[in-house]
Amino acid sequence: MGYAEVYADWLADPERFWMEAARAIDWVKPPSRALEDSRAPLFEWFTDAQVNTCYNAVDRHVVAGNGERTAIIHDSPITGRKAKISYAELQAKVAGLAGALRDKGVAVGDRVIIYMPMVPEALVAMLACARLGAVHSVVFGGFSASELAVRIDDCAPKAIIAASCGLEPGRVVKYKPLLDGAIEMAQAKPDFCIILQREEETATLIAGRDHDWNAVQEGAEPAGCVPVSGDHPAYILYTSGTTGAPKGVVRPTAGHLVALNWTMKNIYGVAPGEVFWAASDVGWVVGHSYICYGPLIHGNTTIVFEGKPVGTPDAGTFWRVISEHKVAAFFTAPTAIRAVKREDPKGAFLAPYDISCLRTLFLAGERADPDTIEWAQNLLQKPVIDHWWQTETGWTIAGNPVGIEALPVKIGSPSVAMPGYDVQILDEGGHPVAPGTLGAIAVKLPLPPGTLPTLWNAQERYVKSYLTTFPGYYETGDAGMKDEDGYLYIMARTDDVINVAGHRLSTGAMEEVLAGHPDVAECAVIGVSDALKGQMPMGFVCLTKGVNRPHADIVKECVGLVREKIGPVAAFKLALVVDRLPKTRSGKILRGIMVKIADGQPFKEPATIDDPAILDEIRDAMQTIGYAKG
Ligand code: COA
Ligand code: AMP
Repeated sequence: MGYAEVYADWLADPERFWMEAARAIDWVKPPSRALEDSRAPLFEWFTDAQVNTCYNAVDRHVVAGNGERTAIIHDSPITGRKAKISYAELQAKVAGLAGALRDKGVAVGDRVIIYMPMVPEALVAMLACARLGAVHSVVFGGFSASELAVRIDDCAPKAIIAASCGLEPGRVVKYKPLLDGAIEMAQAKPDFCIILQREEETATLIAGRDHDWNAVQEGAEPAGCVPVSGDHPAYILYTSGTTGAPKGVVRPTAGHLVALNWTMKNIYGVAPGEVFWAASDVGWVVGHSYICYGPLIHGNTTIVFEGKPVGTPDAGTFWRVISEHKVAAFFTAPTAIRAVKREDPKGAFLAPYDISCLRTLFLAGERADPDTIEWAQNLLQKPVIDHWWQTETGWTIAGNPVGIEALPVKIGSPSVAMPGYDVQILDEGGHPVAPGTLGAIAVKLPLPPGTLPTLWNAQERYVKSYLTTFPGYYETGDAGMKDEDGYLYIMARTDDVINVAGHRLSTGAMEEVLAGHPDVAECAVIGVSDALKGQMPMGFVCLTKGVNRPHADIVKECVGLVREKIGPVAAFKLALVVDRLPKTRSGKILRGIMVKIADGQPFKEPATIDDPAILDEIRDAMQTIGYAKG
């Protein structure tokens, strides 16, 4: 069957389609039905099944006689270390850590925060939680102690598993002081912490609370897999959007297993045993779905890469890893390819490597600009496939399913809706618009298996954020259009989310931080175009009356404050002091127009603007830091 037939097959009977896909999962008790729709517009999948995620990702491959197959390759150009872990070894490691967690009281439904860099133990920790039915929440290492504290308070973890440090080029990021600071700040205190001591940094452990990763496992009986119901939360992953408070996206166990397993062959075109590499971080959804769960559930070899596209040691790192480990499918963010292109425009660093093993390069996480796609295509002489998805969905909404049929690529489009997603472009009244017309991108309910059924502890916020604007649809927060052939074009966000180097950030959260500066009366943060990172945040602050300190000092403090409160990952480096912000007469800040001014794009002055002269003031201010050139 080609793509059109598979999509039509799904559309004709979604429940049959997903029940068939569910046959690839090893159930303790198979689901008797696919969709639970009695609480529409809230939907769940495979609720009456009993299953264990870790069993499907690890044990079943050992049982099937594939215990010697490599499950994880760790390749760390930062430390120079490499290691391989077979499925049988992974099973022993995961059962060992799960045993220790269980002995310390972690049981089904308990939350465990994981704050770890790109080491295999991060996956071991995730899988150990899954083995017990505990709900993990991985927090990206580039977030600050305050952001970690917010997550601790929201999910109230019984335990936190962390490493002593992460490694950024030229810098050891000590995690323990961040962790201690976060626990200090949080109201909800974990019962205990487990710390993986790395060679580069030995953390001081707090007696009675902190346990060494190895010591805590001594004498612990390895734990077996605990069956959970299909709708049990597999994990919580916090993401940005709408307000400063992160949203705890809940991933349902059974749907996650079924959907991810289905994507490995159909979307990524890999067979069990092949090497799949997502160069992302376990702290992001790409890391959850395609460093950890997807490849392992499907019996692939996954790569945990601790490095950067450039500088570790050079722009040939990606090509070295692909050739050395025989990577069949490679997934990264367009930013990473832009970084390589900037450093090595002629592709000289590719020359020493044979990458004939690679079939496809997949890009996602942000808009893939045509230049980057064309450059990569020409250099690699392989298909470069853009696909569009979100933390909320956990897998592709629109893509080019090379495992079903490689559709013609239209550069600038992540291609077509995947089975499971009825994607519509809606006008403000919620009516579908004609092809080629811009609108809000929405997905007709129900969303497919694996997508979020709710937000952690925030059902109302879930309904309000996603299900209310367009009744009967899930609001993606993206705007764009569909062409005559059903190809989607993702153009912009409709909320405050910006995408910086493939990292999803909230300008609202940054505004909350700036507003906390004692000299700031009012502020706005926008995302401006950046040739490398796609977007960069730019902040504008108006000072409280009577403040006459040097602006440079205030700017420096603002930059420092965002780094401290949100983290280095916010990459907040551009800030300006201005007298006034452009607003409508009703007081709404015209952020969209500010973005257009910064990017030198034409715009129409809104009729409702309060004082058009402010736009010139803003343009002049931006020009002082090299923007708004037009
Ligand atoms: N722990 C601690 N700090 C981190 C971190 C982590 N895990 N990840 C990033 N940071 C820090 C960086 O060190 C940097 O700090 P600095 O301001 O002191 O330099 C800051 O956060 C910003 O990082 P980043 O946006 O990654 O910028 P960069 O200049 O270090 O690197 C790229 C630029 C393009 C090489 C890098 O962003 C990249 O590899 N992007 C690909 C992103 C990706 O794979 N995203 C996953 C979604 S699929
Ligand atoms: P995240 O939840 O971090 O994966 O970010 C999801 C958001 O990133 C989407 O809502 C889009 O705004 C953007 N995004 C992800 N993939 C793409 C893509 N292929 N093209 C355009 N935007 C994308």
